[in-house]
Amino acid sequence: MSFRDFDVGTIGIVGSGAMGRGIAQIAALGGLTVRLFDTNPQAVAAARDYLFDTLNKLATKGKIKEADAHAALANIHAANEIGALSDCQVVIEAIVEKLDVKRALFRELEAVVGERCILASNTSSLPITAIAAGCAHPERVVGYHFFNPVPLMKVVEVIDGLRGDPTAGDALMELARRMGHTPVRAKDMPGFIVNHAGRGMNTEGLRIASEGVASFVDVDRIMREQAGFRLGPFELLDLTALDVSHPVMESIYHQFYEEPRFTPSPITGTRLAGGLIGRKTGEGFYKYADGKQQTPDEAPAPTAMPRRVWISRASHAAREQVLKLIAKSDAAVTIDTGNTPAPDSLIVVTPLGHDATTAALAENLDATRVVAIDTLFPLDTVARRTLMTTPATSHAARDAAHALFAADGVPVTVIRDSTGFVAQRVVATIVNIGCDIAQQQIATPQDIDLAVTLGLGYPHGPLALGDTLGAKTILTILRNMHSVLGDPRYRPSPWLARRAQLGLPLTHSEE
Ligand code: NAI
Repeated sequence: MSFRDFDVGTIGIVGSGAMGRGIAQIAALGGLTVRLFDTNPQAVAAARDYLFDTLNKLATKGKIKEADAHAALANIHAANEIGALSDCQVVIEAIVEKLDVKRALFRELEAVVGERCILASNTSSLPITAIAAGCAHPERVVGYHFFNPVPLMKVVEVIDGLRGDPTAGDALMELARRMGHTPVRAKDMPGFIVNHAGRGMNTEGLRIASEGVASFVDVDRIMREQAGFRLGPFELLDLTALDVSHPVMESIYHQFYEEPRFTPSPITGTRLAGGLIGRKTGEGFYKYADGKQQTPDEAPAPTAMPRRVWISRASHAAREQVLKLIAKSDAAVTIDTGNTPAPDSLIVVTPLGHDATTAALAENLDATRVVAIDTLFPLDTVARRTLMTTPATSHAARDAAHALFAADGVPVTVIRDSTGFVAQRVVATIVNIGCDIAQQQIATPQDIDLAVTLGLGYPHGPLALGDTLGAKTILTILRNMHSVLGDPRYRPSPWLARRAQLGLPLTHSEE
């Protein structure tokens, strides 16, 4: 049976909780007739009241036309029994996340709907193939993974089960566009695209914190102001809340058979057990007062400048960045141009994927005077700079470097020694996981980037981010981290390594 040229006029939604009502809203606004069913009749009534309020509010605010709000409301019908879904061309399930319950529902639906009806599941963590395996016609079962809140999160993952008919998925892609959403197509793999790609930021942020490199708030500040993300990993975890994120982290890790890239951190388990769950409980990584995040103030930057600075020649481009920045500031600092640092010079190194200690040892430098600066994001455009010390760096050297690199008013965060600072290692991990998703053909490079920008709100998708910063640079960061730490978590994805070495963009696929 094919779903080519499939016409959809009426859809059924089973489960009228947070997700079901959101899907009902966009479907009704898209001109579809919606039949809303729930085993709990009060849930349907509550959903209709909610949609009535929401659509009227949107009209009052001028976000939609009043006539459209009325038409949408007229499109939404309560179904008192599952049999009322018999005339639907598509039924979307958004019930409890349990495989046996979903399978039972799909079997029930098969007995009710016509044979040319697509059965879609909004599951975020169950394999579509497993849900379909309980059906007489698994070819019409498709994953349709929306995000919360549905009307604002304008992306939906369309997932083909192993026995799925691709034309059924095609029909749901088209239906998503009618509802004003951007569909992306994914293979039936744990986490699909968004929950898979989202591992990078959280797990690496947690790894950095667990190594004592920087505080939660410092990691967030760096990821926002240096790397340009809207939220840092800990703000993000507070928003999604640990009762949701912690089980997802564990589930994806186990579903990929203990893949080291996804290793969760004991930090979240302990915090979850202690009730420090996130924004919704008033305390997570941050405290919240009246819903507002409480962020500690930063200490003012030191002001005592170094007299003389020696800058490593290990990277010509990075050295030029540092020289340009010092020249632009009013700091009365002499540049030490010697082949080796004079005894009183502050020593600045610019490692990629290495820690300050490795950089100091590589050039045989006096570690007590070594401070590293992260140059991955251009020093003259970032809203924050990161400095890193060795365990031997003196406070005087650290503070002098801080004063120098904050002289133009851009805030500086000083972290402890870390392979790849904070931004380098988080960004390289995000790009690496994005490349692995492409390598496994879970989705096309275009869809990976679309899903991540729309589903996670990142400024770029992982592959475009890698291309912007340079695939070779990302490869160097990962190789250096891998060689210093020996942790397979940082092994470069073959997708990345091949394209970086051939000079091809990461968004390039052979087809
Ligand atoms: P919810 O708990 O708000 O709503 C579920 C609704 O389903 C309830 O009204 C319940 O009465 C009804 N229900 C339970 N079993 C049923 C059955 N056998 N037949 C008919 N109705 C039944 O849940 P929510 O958050 O809307 O999630 C629903 C689904 O969407 C789950 O599979 C979840 O994994 C998935 N999802 C949830 C997201 C979220 O952020 N909440 C994001 C993406 C997917």
